[in-house]
Amino acid sequence: MEVIETKVDVSSDSFRENYVHMEALVDELKKELEIARNERSDRALARLSEQNKLPVRKRLELLLDPNTPFLEIAPLAARSMYDKKIHGAGIVAGIGVVSGREVVIHANDPTIKGGTIYPMGVKKGLRMQTIAMENRLPIINLVDSGGAFLPLQSEIFPDVDDGGRIFYNQAIISKMGIPQICGVMGLCTAGAAYIPAMSDEVVHVQGTGAIFLGGPPLVRAATGEEVTADELGGAEVHCRESGVSDYLAEDDAHCIEIIRQIVKNLPPARKTDIGRREPKPPIYDPKEIYGIVPKSLNIPYDVREVIARMVDGSEFLEFKSLYGPTLVCGWAYIHGYPVGILANNGVLFSDSSLKATQFIQICDKRGIPLLFLQNISGYMVGKDYERGGITKDGHKMVNAVATATVPKFTVIIGASFGAGNYGMCGRAYSPRFLWMWPNAQIGVMGGEQAADVMITVKNDQLAREGKPPLPEELVRQIREPIIASALREGNAYYSTANLWDDGILDPAKTRDVLGLAISAALNAPLRDDTYGYGTFRM
Ligand code: COA
Repeated sequence: MEVIETKVDVSSDSFRENYVHMEALVDELKKELEIARNERSDRALARLSEQNKLPVRKRLELLLDPNTPFLEIAPLAARSMYDKKIHGAGIVAGIGVVSGREVVIHANDPTIKGGTIYPMGVKKGLRMQTIAMENRLPIINLVDSGGAFLPLQSEIFPDVDDGGRIFYNQAIISKMGIPQICGVMGLCTAGAAYIPAMSDEVVHVQGTGAIFLGGPPLVRAATGEEVTADELGGAEVHCRESGVSDYLAEDDAHCIEIIRQIVKNLPPARKTDIGRREPKPPIYDPKEIYGIVPKSLNIPYDVREVIARMVDGSEFLEFKSLYGPTLVCGWAYIHGYPVGILANNGVLFSDSSLKATQFIQICDKRGIPLLFLQNISGYMVGKDYERGGITKDGHKMVNAVATATVPKFTVIIGASFGAGNYGMCGRAYSPRFLWMWPNAQIGVMGGEQAADVMITVKNDQLAREGKPPLPEELVRQIREPIIASALREGNAYYSTANLWDDGILDPAKTRDVLGLAISAALNAPLRDDTYGYGTFRM
């Protein structure tokens, strides 16, 4: 493999301008994360200490092995939604190392509306279960929740991917033989009572943990009976009488200690060997990515300069470098793990689509994970390209992406528009993980293009009716809201709030996050070849 030779001039004005711009975006991201992690009301914090409970992040600190990384998933879920205070959708979740084992952790935050579950909380819970299933990772649930957030119950309860799916998944996870461990560290009310009930092993904290289908308020309303949470579903009741719980813990710290012992007692993980090498850092500073990525998505740049700052030793074996140049494909190592990289360097044409298809098939057959670096405005349009079969060739790429069985990872490093999102392994193509950079934009098309399409449609309609085209003022009135809504609903924060991704990343940290994600993915067998590929239209 050859070291990518950089052509970036770090002393140029454009580098400095880009750097300042990206640095400001990263600073904004840090502030947003700080708010999501720490902004809690004094009343909620006081209530927590009155109850002798530990804050959720302290619980995690005790649970995780010291000095090991925690790959937090969707920390900005539900940002700006509801009353703008349901940080992380009321849940802290991610992949961490417990007693030497990579596990999925899902923990309610009782300082956010009593840990109640909002619609985005359901979505985040389902996402964590998907991560556990796809990567065969044991899952630890630290439950402390008032159950469904009742004012929004219609958005949480009835549909396929609503609350019921959590417990359905728990049954499937159990059938798959993936360990599920539950710490009852607060209330597990109504549906949430099934989280411990459907787990393999349940640790129950005395005094604060309680499991019941109907809590004291419901019992009072339904039957008039006055009963405390502890009498109804406390640790003594469930460890001695009902058998719902398996281990009695004296307090939060004891509960976590028991969970760590349970994980230690699991059979060892059988991780897939894909030929890891000794990791080495890139020879160029990953922070230089800040100066390479232009301020505007419309300005082209060479994505090899980004790859050079993401892969081990900045070494890259480029595949078909002279063919289909708008897509860069090639092999590299990230934290010692082999990867096949597909990175946009312009619009996708027939040749770049065919190159992608071949490259994906080679990686899939060799068992090499795929990394997609998305910065794509779409597939090329126009008469010549349609005649040349762009739809047919784009289809081959989409087909290969959808059916490849090696782990796929996607980072949206710029634009993610139209079918380009599909071909470059958008969320619907089941990458094991997908992240955005803070400058990224996502949508059917860019705002300007969408506005132009709408104006053309309107003018064609008027022409059919024998009327003159739209006057300039009306054109402006149509264009501006379309552009504004594309910017608002297409930016990285809107995406991450809606859980269209697993989080927004600092570009300089992307390589480290990918290393953790690849490591987690190797807990699952490499491929499932039951059906092979679909039919490729020739
Ligand atoms: N839906 C909506 N809001 C709820 C809620 C629910 N299920 N449960 C609690 N809340 C809200 C409270 O109104 C309060 O809101 P506020 O901060 O704006 O005042 C906040 O969550 C904290 O509740 P509070 O009772 O003050 O805190 P706590 O720590 O003493 O108790 C619970 C938390 C969850 C144990 C308690 O509120 C409770 O028992 N809730 C009802 C649980 C239930 O029966 N759920 C059935 C759902 S299927």
